[in-house]
Amino acid sequence: MERTAPSSGELLEIAVELTRDAAATAYRMRVEGVSVAATKSTATDVVTAADRAVETQVLDALRRLRPADAVLGEEYGAGGTEVAPGGVRWILDPIDGTVNYLYGLPHYAVSLAAEVDGEVVAGVVRNVTTGEEWTATAGGGAWRDGERLRCSTETDLGQALVGTGFGYDPKRRAHQARVVAELIPHVRDIRRLGAAALDLCLAAEGRLDAYYEKGLAAWDQAAGGLVATEAGLRVAGLGGRPAGPDLVIAAPPALFTPLHDRLADLDASGGP
Ligand code: IPD
Ligand code: CA
Ligand code: CA
Repeated sequence: MERTAPSSGELLEIAVELTRDAAATAYRMRVEGVSVAATKSTATDVVTAADRAVETQVLDALRRLRPADAVLGEEYGAGGTEVAPGGVRWILDPIDGTVNYLYGLPHYAVSLAAEVDGEVVAGVVRNVTTGEEWTATAGGGAWRDGERLRCSTETDLGQALVGTGFGYDPKRRAHQARVVAELIPHVRDIRRLGAAALDLCLAAEGRLDAYYEKGLAAWDQAAGGLVATEAGLRVAGLGGRPAGPDLVIAAPPALFTPLHDRLADLDASGGP
């Protein structure tokens, strides 16, 4: 049955509330001491008890507040929930930047987005340790702590500070390292900060000029991608394709084509 979705503002309000509670749990569990619960795709792709606890907390709250909605979370997948036409799907990365979390590097976030009919309409990313909180609604702009965000006005790729990241699979990392090695002479510098959602938010306010990465999942890019888009970045893949697992490029309009073309030449979306 077709349902009327709530407004993006209403969805954002819920997302913000749940993300704040989730971040408090992640913070508390970090202070108490991190425990690795399992590994996933490779031996370095870890899941901590906090990843699971945060996801469970958000799932429980959504079940209570919005029982008819679907949820896609990194740790428990879609959990058998299906999205009805016109219905809402929540997309959650309980801790983005888990390796930073494990090592006590204060750069990890909770990321939660709401999607309606396949389009992300609201998103929030909260840096757990600093409390910085980025929000966006489709058409409503990108914000951090009450301040409207605009992306970098840089026009020269040679002056651009570019963020990127690497997957967990050694073969993929080797390919990504080759791409970076060829790109670095053509940009100001590269940053590998370790949390894709935060990379997108930093680009939304010009603390990075641009960002790209191969291998992102929906939960890595949903909320941060909306924040970046609403701050004026162009967020897309190669050759006019939408941003996705093959490649996410987030760049101000003037930098998009030069960065895109370099990455295409370097086969950034190729390899394993
Ligand atoms: C990872 C981080 C990292 C990025 C990886 C992601 P996780 O997410 O966002 O910066 O380079 O591609 O998988 O595992 O910390 O949630
Ligand atoms: Ca992630
Ligand atoms: Ca994660």
